[in-house]
Amino acid sequence: MYLNGVRIFSSRLAAAPTHFVRSITVNSTAVEVEEGTAHLKSWKEIPGPSSLPLLGSLHHFIPGGMFYNLDSTDFARKLYQDYGPIVKVDGMIGMDKLIFLYDAESVSQVLRGENWMPVRSGFPSLEYYRKYYNKSKDHEEKPTGLLTEHLQPWKEFRSAVNPVMLQPKTIKLYTTAIDQVAQDMIARMRSSRNENNMLRGNFDVEMNLWALESIAVVALGTRLNCLDPTLSDDSPAKRLIQCVHDFFSVSEDLDFNPSIWKYIATPKFKKAMKLYEEHENLSKYFIQKAMKELKANKGKSSDEKGVLEKLMDINEQYAYVMAGDMLFAGVDTAAYTMTATLYLLATNPEKQQKLREEVLSQSEKRPYLKACIKEAMRVMPVVPGNIRKTTKEYNILGYHIPKNMEMIFSHQEMSVMEQYYPRPKEYIPERWVADKDDPLYHGNAHPFAQSPFGFGVRMCIGRRIAELEVETFLGRIVENFNVEWFGPPPKVVQTALNYFKGPFNFIFKDI
Ligand code: HEM
Repeated sequence: MYLNGVRIFSSRLAAAPTHFVRSITVNSTAVEVEEGTAHLKSWKEIPGPSSLPLLGSLHHFIPGGMFYNLDSTDFARKLYQDYGPIVKVDGMIGMDKLIFLYDAESVSQVLRGENWMPVRSGFPSLEYYRKYYNKSKDHEEKPTGLLTEHLQPWKEFRSAVNPVMLQPKTIKLYTTAIDQVAQDMIARMRSSRNENNMLRGNFDVEMNLWALESIAVVALGTRLNCLDPTLSDDSPAKRLIQCVHDFFSVSEDLDFNPSIWKYIATPKFKKAMKLYEEHENLSKYFIQKAMKELKANKGKSSDEKGVLEKLMDINEQYAYVMAGDMLFAGVDTAAYTMTATLYLLATNPEKQQKLREEVLSQSEKRPYLKACIKEAMRVMPVVPGNIRKTTKEYNILGYHIPKNMEMIFSHQEMSVMEQYYPRPKEYIPERWVADKDDPLYHGNAHPFAQSPFGFGVRMCIGRRIAELEVETFLGRIVENFNVEWFGPPPKVVQTALNYFKGPFNFIFKDI
């Protein structure tokens, strides 16, 4: 694909442009151009592919261009190899210029510097839908959620939901329910295998069903029954999954590739608005049902209350928005992480066996299980990088970086660099449990080389939930199946998030 280079680091939680020409209130991304001081070079001198007036770097991505037909990983590597640890890529039609960082110390400088009220420009088209498109129908000012708010509105929302979403005691309430989902999924997998012990259904859809069922337990406090084999394709649950999936392909076109939707309502723009509306309506359907049940079931003590109830006690509108975002942000992320971990364990059978021994020992603490997942997130992260829009000036690697610059942190590349991790391309969960005097000890690596859940006050709010889900399901899988893989590795496609492209050559043999 000719523009995949631009998509590469732009995680869906880290998209670039926020300049809504369509909106009345324009959220300008104009860069405050300040020339470098005497001892610093100007940001304009940052190395990077050449740029043309208006077209920016577009010519590099079309036939004959140096990035044409490069896959995303090769593009990332090439940028680093050709230009070094800091690279400037000029924007193309409708997109901002991006500064890529491949240096963990510089990443820490910006992430720490931006940790007061960090701006992570998120899905511009979704932001447009939530803030402007939808507003014509409903004039009341409402919070739009963590993915699409910035600055003070983001801070207010986040401060309100943090104590609920990140409190270990609250998340622990879901241990049994999440485990029940895992066990139901095992039963579904067992019965849907063919004569070669491979799953009959599409493996990615299966993982998404598990992830949606799991996150719904937390977001709604109820089961959606996604794992029911009789679930029809037009059921609300299946349609919700389809919506989340379609969302990323639509958002990729509008938010990650050059597009004129900010000026003209293109067919894709119209399709996206319809899709966002459908996702909103489906979430509404589930959330309203769950809220009604909770209201009818009042009288629980604070300790017994789950996430949705606690959020409702704080602010019903926040509860509504947060639950909707959980049903959106918590599906593909967990599903990919699970698939990556399974693939790496299937192709490293001795690690899988070691994990199985730990799980079967029934010990309460499972450090190796956690290590297997952490290591999978290092080697095959679902979110390729992170992003911050600078709110102040920086001196990065000798360059003066002004305010309002989109900085992209290339964690996916850094986390497999020799300078940060020994034997970086190998799957070695042991590094996360190694003693300090072991050369593999993870503490020797720069803490900002890898950052699967992001950083600081804006880090992933679903982290504890995701960890509980993946740890529980992985434990159940290795206890029940010996997982094998045949053929070449799965192809990873980078859109807004990383995706595996089939075929999924997993074999699940009974233990
Ligand atoms: C393995 C699974 C997951 C990974 C790897 C992941 C990763 C991330 C990352 C890298 C960020 C950006 C953080 C930053 O800007 O510093 C993020 C933000 C976010 N994630 Fe996750 N995530 C996962 C699962 C989930 C789940 C299950 C939920 C649902 C509860 C969720 C909800 C969110 C939300 C709402 C944000 C925006 C937070 C904010 O801007 O304040 N994520 N996630």
